[in-house]
Amino acid sequence: MQAQIDQYTSEINAFSPANADELETFRIKFLGTKGIIKDLFEQFKTVGPEEKRTFGKVLNQFKQLAEAKYNELKEQHSAESSTQNAQDLTLPGDDFAVGSRHPLSLVRNEIIDIFKRLGFVVAEGPEIEDDWHNFSALNFPEEHPARDMQDTFFIKKNNGKDDIALRTHTSSVQVRMMEHGKPPFRAIMPGRVYRNEAISARAHCFFHQVEGLYVDENVSFSDLKQTLYHFVQELYGAGTKVRFRPSYFPFTEPSAEMDISCTICGGSGCNMCKHTGWVEILGCGMVDPNVLENCGIDSKKYTGFAFGMGMERIANLKYVIKDLRLFSENDVRFLKQFQTEML
Ligand code: PHE
Repeated sequence: MQAQIDQYTSEINAFSPANADELETFRIKFLGTKGIIKDLFEQFKTVGPEEKRTFGKVLNQFKQLAEAKYNELKEQHSAESSTQNAQDLTLPGDDFAVGSRHPLSLVRNEIIDIFKRLGFVVAEGPEIEDDWHNFSALNFPEEHPARDMQDTFFIKKNNGKDDIALRTHTSSVQVRMMEHGKPPFRAIMPGRVYRNEAISARAHCFFHQVEGLYVDENVSFSDLKQTLYHFVQELYGAGTKVRFRPSYFPFTEPSAEMDISCTICGGSGCNMCKHTGWVEILGCGMVDPNVLENCGIDSKKYTGFAFGMGMERIANLKYVIKDLRLFSENDVRFLKQFQTEML
């Protein structure tokens, strides 16, 4: 037994591990629950009382030696590895995922940027609206079919009549702005709107609009045309053509819809423009005097124009996104594609 202990002692003294694994092997070999020291203590139980006295001491010393060696090496090793980590500036950094802007945010920011340079501010309003702000103040007569046209999600009745609804357009923000301020007004209103439509690749029950309003003395239809023409040149590039077609909205008179030459085929005809070379991007017109009066603005003194566009449509003409549902599904494989645009 003594010879064995001597041999182990010199092995322990000479031991110098190259790494943490070797140190662990050492611990298991000598100090583990099935290790050498445990085994020696088992053998010790069987020796006679004479030997017990001498070996007890030897054995305890041997155990202390192994433990001290292990603790010393362990400390040394962890100090070494932590100074290594702290000092090695060439170690690769931790990988972390960088998010990307949603295509609708990219488009919204771009639109805001263009109008900001023309002196427009950004205004916002609630998504839950009352009948007055979403319809009545905007010159929708009671029982007018246009209220049905917008496939409204009504939430609550008031005196037996539908009153509170999810806003169907951001025109309600125009009303709020004019009610609470004094002309001139020059603002754009981006926001989410809701319509009760079956969800498909081409329609959704919610989407996003950007509405614009400009009210001042002597604002004319030519101001409207020039503003929107400039907007389109900035957004889709110089040379993009525009055309206005007469249209109808209860809150504007005269009203128009604006088309631009197809951004995908340049006007020669493709699926996007249904081979016409033109795509509609917004509705617009001169604010109806009734709307100005409803909001407490003198329609003899002030005139204004307004326009409204769907952001998904605007994004689609930039990024060719064939299925509207992609905008709201949060599929990272879709969202990731817009990564570089953020930087
Ligand atoms: N609010 C209209 C819509 O949702 C768009 C529009 C806004 C048209 C302003 C004209 C003027 O369809």
